[in-house]
Amino acid sequence: MVNDSSQYTQRQARLGAILQRDQFDGLVLNPGPGLTYLTGLHIHLSERPVIAIYRPNLPLILVLPELEAGKTTTLPFSVQTFPYGEDPSTWDFVFQQAFQAAGLTKSTLGIEPRYLRLLEYRFLEDAASEAKFGSAERSLSELRSRKDETEINSMRKAVDIAQNALQETLPKIKAGITEREVASELVVQLLKLGSDPKLPFFPIVASGPNSANPHANPTDRPLQNGDLLIIDWGANVGGYYSDITRTFTIGEIDPALISIGEVVLDANSSAREVTKPDTSASDVDKAARSVIEDAGYGEYFIHRTGHGLGLEAHEDPYIRAENPQLLQEGMTFTIEPGIYLPGRGGIRIEDDVFVTPEGAEVLTDLPRELTPLG
Ligand code: CO
Ligand code: CO
Repeated sequence: MVNDSSQYTQRQARLGAILQRDQFDGLVLNPGPGLTYLTGLHIHLSERPVIAIYRPNLPLILVLPELEAGKTTTLPFSVQTFPYGEDPSTWDFVFQQAFQAAGLTKSTLGIEPRYLRLLEYRFLEDAASEAKFGSAERSLSELRSRKDETEINSMRKAVDIAQNALQETLPKIKAGITEREVASELVVQLLKLGSDPKLPFFPIVASGPNSANPHANPTDRPLQNGDLLIIDWGANVGGYYSDITRTFTIGEIDPALISIGEVVLDANSSAREVTKPDTSASDVDKAARSVIEDAGYGEYFIHRTGHGLGLEAHEDPYIRAENPQLLQEGMTFTIEPGIYLPGRGGIRIEDDVFVTPEGAEVLTDLPRELTPLG
């Protein structure tokens, strides 16, 4: 868990410098990873609007329901709160008071377009009708993309819990058990072994032809001899996620699929090997994609090679062909090439990597080869 008080103050100070460079007077956040990163607060998005107003070098302002105000009394930095009661007709006035206190009614303010809802935006427009609102997505991504030691330790734990949960689940997997039963057991093990309950996503357990769909939901299909079985799952530690995929085989499988598994593994290794500071995201994608293309399966690798991972299950940097972004020390992302043959099945191998000064530390270390089960 992140609980060092100076850490939040440092993050807020770094944000201040980035916002000033990007010509924002302040930032308005609602519950989500940005707010958690800056304050340590975990507040659920609900029908009651919650916003934090950040201004460089000034105390954070929070507008929130009275019932959530208790969470702010123990924050290790100063905040000014504007709590409101259960009558929505009084909320406009509270938002106005907060913006007047912030002195930002005519300013340029950053928001997070993927999180701020029309619900909050209406109150902001009324309270600061002369302010200009713009996306601060790039500023926030820059703030959060290089993970510090506490963050990477949470991610290491999230990887350990996920890997151990899978190992507890594997002995139960055999022909006849359904995808849904495998997914249920994996979720039980994740929680038993210490994952926070909010998983990055519900595990993908996709067998036979279903495994040709990269985002399949577990079904009642029983596993059968000759199946490929993709399991894609992750854990949460203090808000930080892991995201891993391994592919298994049930009984006797077509030897052609085994050699396709080797191609995917080569693609995965090749992307891990080129990962280092100042390599571009597109070069990492190319390292994986060219292996699959050279083997003749390019048209069956139907997604990007990976995505950033942290407080969000998908975040910057996106490891895709057109992204010129240069990797930096401290970035964390997935490498997850796959080959999907419609009607037959798919193979994906997904690892979580952390960019170090020399290259990459691979956080995930379960065997990557196609593993026979049952
Ligand atoms: Co995944
Ligand atoms: Co992923």
